[in-house]
Amino acid sequence: MIRAFIFDLDGVITDTAEYHFRAWKRLAEDEDLIFTRQDNEALRGVSRRDSLLLLLKGNIYPEGQLQEMMERKNSYYLEFIQDINPNDILPGAIELLQELRSNGYQIALGSASKNARDVLQRLGIEEFFDQISDGYSVEYQKPAPDLFLHAASQLKLSPRVCVVVEDATSGIEAAVAGGFRTIGIGPLERVGIADFVLPDLSGVRLKDILSSL
Ligand code: BG6
Ligand code: MG
Repeated sequence: MIRAFIFDLDGVITDTAEYHFRAWKRLAEDEDLIFTRQDNEALRGVSRRDSLLLLLKGNIYPEGQLQEMMERKNSYYLEFIQDINPNDILPGAIELLQELRSNGYQIALGSASKNARDVLQRLGIEEFFDQISDGYSVEYQKPAPDLFLHAASQLKLSPRVCVVVEDATSGIEAAVAGGFRTIGIGPLERVGIADFVLPDLSGVRLKDILSSL
């Protein structure tokens, strides 16, 4: 019996995953570091700090410099998202949120981003969410299960009755580690360990999800 859905944000509901990539790319260029789209796959779903450490490929930097680089990346990211609006919601997301809502399911956000509330507001979909767990909610982010466990406990539900919808390997790993059911959004090589894999949310109906989990 499924009672709730916990959605990742970046790359599931809206294409901000691309803006995270572009912001890291710009930082890498400032710093004369090589950073490709393929390198970016390892950063998908990962917190700002862990993303920076991956980008720096194990090289040691003083804490002050790490902080400055994280702020710089975030200012680039904020520049990129300043014009996002409800038209930037990915196809099928609103329809699925509406269907879940009208069938009485609880809905939570499970995003590692500290900008998640801001993005939800810009997209105009905050009211769909009973619970928002974000980059401020837990210390250990994905692939640790803590963020999704935080969302489930706020909903007062066991992970077994919650489905996590994720586009990142780190996110699916986090959900599996927490005992959640999983829908992976994207290619099999990225989210193939999910219970149910979809290319995106367009045309996805609740009955298909329930029969595939
Ligand atoms: C995740 C993104 O949702 O949030 C990552 O997939 C990002 O790419 C992480 O690094 C943290 O986001 P922010 O907005 O706090 O830097
Ligand atoms: Mg994501």
